[in-house]
Amino acid sequence: MRRLIPSTGTPASFFDLVRAYLPVGGERRFEEAFCRWAGSPWCRFVNSGTTALYLILKALRTLRPDRDEVLLPAYTAPSLVLPIRRAGLRPVLCDVDLETLNADLTDAGGRLTPRTLAFLMIPMYGLPCDAAEARRMAERYGAFLVEDAASAMGSRMDGRMAGTRGDVGFLSFNRGKNLSTVSGGVVLTDREEIQQAVAAQCATLPAASLRAEVRLGVRAFALALAVRPFWYTLLHGTISRFKYTSLHTDFEMSRYTDFQARLGFSLLRCAETFLTQRHKNGILLYNILSNTEGVALPRILPGAHVVFNQFPVLLSDPETRDAAHRAVLKAGVEATTLYPEPIHRLYGDLGYGRDPDPFPGATAVSRRLLLLPTHPLIEASRLREAGEAVIRAVKR
Ligand SMILES: Cc1ncc(COP(=O)(O)O)c(C=O)c1O
Repeated sequence: MRRLIPSTGTPASFFDLVRAYLPVGGERRFEEAFCRWAGSPWCRFVNSGTTALYLILKALRTLRPDRDEVLLPAYTAPSLVLPIRRAGLRPVLCDVDLETLNADLTDAGGRLTPRTLAFLMIPMYGLPCDAAEARRMAERYGAFLVEDAASAMGSRMDGRMAGTRGDVGFLSFNRGKNLSTVSGGVVLTDREEIQQAVAAQCATLPAASLRAEVRLGVRAFALALAVRPFWYTLLHGTISRFKYTSLHTDFEMSRYTDFQARLGFSLLRCAETFLTQRHKNGILLYNILSNTEGVALPRILPGAHVVFNQFPVLLSDPETRDAAHRAVLKAGVEATTLYPEPIHRLYGDLGYGRDPDPFPGATAVSRRLLLLPTHPLIEASRLREAGEAVIRAVKR
């Protein structure tokens, strides 16, 4: 039988799991190792990237209580609206640049105001943003630059890791990310006043329940199986039932667990190998698809080293995108189309109209984007098949 290739995956080994299950070491040790790895003087782990953003915003609000707006691109994880609102703040959207697939900085510049608490810079799919320009813009309005590097672990620009290029940043360790401890998030900052403010917020978090800890242990095992093509093919029907298909309406907050910290510590030891493989897989797809008429690839900024969480391809129209998607799936490679709608269309209560579309770039991305997998468990031959399937669909 043809092996199916899942869309995401961290290759946790049997030994990583055994090390995690043994009660030796915990959060402190992972914290030190992660700071060293990221080149950051300080970090704190929490149960998710969403919680990390919530705590960051609460912390920043204590430093600038007169500000209540958070600026973010209209095409990104829609669940980001939840922590912004829970922190008592108002999401303000900007458009997306079809060349970089990140925030359109010209549009963003016009939406910063003296009420902006934070500008959320989001290196989508692992593509680093122009942090120098984003910082200049945020500083002009006295806003904080927050880097949401949830899906950009290992990407860097001018020698600085994604997550450390703003005033404060965070990464996610959920099951689709470059390093996964089933769930989890980490806050990074070199600014002492922000460290103290975030630490004060972290101190309010409850510990994970015993039930949640047991669930994490079971899920880590299931996930280690599910990311391997052999098991993925065998268990595909069951795994499909556990995929997210609806919009999140809430999120739980708790501390990171020692089990997750031990798993993260073990995975971090071989992170360079699997992050490098993601980079290479992305470059291979880039080379296969470049110069194909009807396929737009993202512009990679000079000085950027991209660790692709998935490889983004922009097709000329929604029909061609859907045809390419079907063709890649038929080749047994699980491509995805990510979020079906931009944030302003999903959350009508944000007050943006639809006609004329205030964020045409974001809407275009939602309709024309296809993501190909880049995780380290996919062989080069299968990547070539996926790339060729896209080319065939476009030429038809
Ligand atoms: C860009 C971005 N930010 C934040 C998050 C939230 O992270 P988590 O799932 O760990 O809460 C995600 C999740 O996929 C994401 O893609």
